[in-house]
Amino acid sequence: MHPIANTAQSQAWNGYEGAHWAAHQDRWDAVNAGFDQPLLDAAGIEPGERVLDVGCGAGATTRLAARAAGPQGSALGLDLSGPMLERARASAAREGIGNVRFEQGDAQVHPLPRGSFDLAISRFGVMFFTDPAAAFANIAAALRPGGRVALLAAAEPEGNEWLTALAALGDLLPLEGFGTAGGPGMFSLADPGAAASLLSGAGLRDVRAEHVTAYGTWGRDAEQAADFILDSGPGRHLLTGVDAGTAARVRSRLADSFRPYESDAGLKLRSTGRLFTATAPGV
Ligand SMILES: C[S@@+](CC[C@H](N)C(=O)[O-])C[C@H]1O[C@@H](n2cnc3c(N)ncnc32)[C@H](O)[C@@H]1O
Repeated sequence: MHPIANTAQSQAWNGYEGAHWAAHQDRWDAVNAGFDQPLLDAAGIEPGERVLDVGCGAGATTRLAARAAGPQGSALGLDLSGPMLERARASAAREGIGNVRFEQGDAQVHPLPRGSFDLAISRFGVMFFTDPAAAFANIAAALRPGGRVALLAAAEPEGNEWLTALAALGDLLPLEGFGTAGGPGMFSLADPGAAASLLSGAGLRDVRAEHVTAYGTWGRDAEQAADFILDSGPGRHLLTGVDAGTAARVRSRLADSFRPYESDAGLKLRSTGRLFTATAPGV
């Protein structure tokens, strides 16, 4: 079957959602930074390796990979989002990282050079595919024989405190747009067995799935965190068509539910992910 492009995701990540992530790159990185070390540990990047970062967004993990690969190695960030890649290039230039490149493209159909990466990594950039079989086959084909993947995807929805807080507002607004395990959306790879089958189906071997928990900083305090979530792409989607009074109640109840999580170091919430590792067949 001919792979299909991820048009809806391209519109989202080149539209409001991508603009929000690009404008608040530091905030999103603070949310997700707790997953970086587990991802890097699983990736085990050696000096000189060529790394592909799938759905790299504003490039935080691409820059980490480029540093780990060192001057003899390199990192390529691939993403759908023009605004996020603009931020990625600017951050890499500001930090003087010369062995990193970014390309705009859809992992489902982008013409990745075959057999040319030692490793593919991702921090939450591989779970929005509408044709995951095509995307993982494309990624696997880009690996050299014996190459590896370390891919982090969202795990069970109830492991995420930001989401359970939104779900508790069900009397004010229905929780929709986040998707379910196996379906399109951020939880598409939440069923580890089904996700592992997708990776095996792409020709990868020794597929392993590790559950990871991390605490991210969502804001300075409860109000800022509630505003951040409700102003993000999914938050804005939830509030579409909601009257101003209800929206204000949602905002204030969400902030109230976050108050117990406030600390001197900011508002920290637990999220869960699943780290999939696998290898490409050897020679
Ligand atoms: C949740 S963000 C994560 C971004 C980044 N990895 C990070 O950790 O900050 C998901 C990213 O996946 C990208 N993405 C979604 N579908 C994609 C596809 N089919 N091909 C390439 N990138 C995709 C989006 O544009 C977005 O940048």
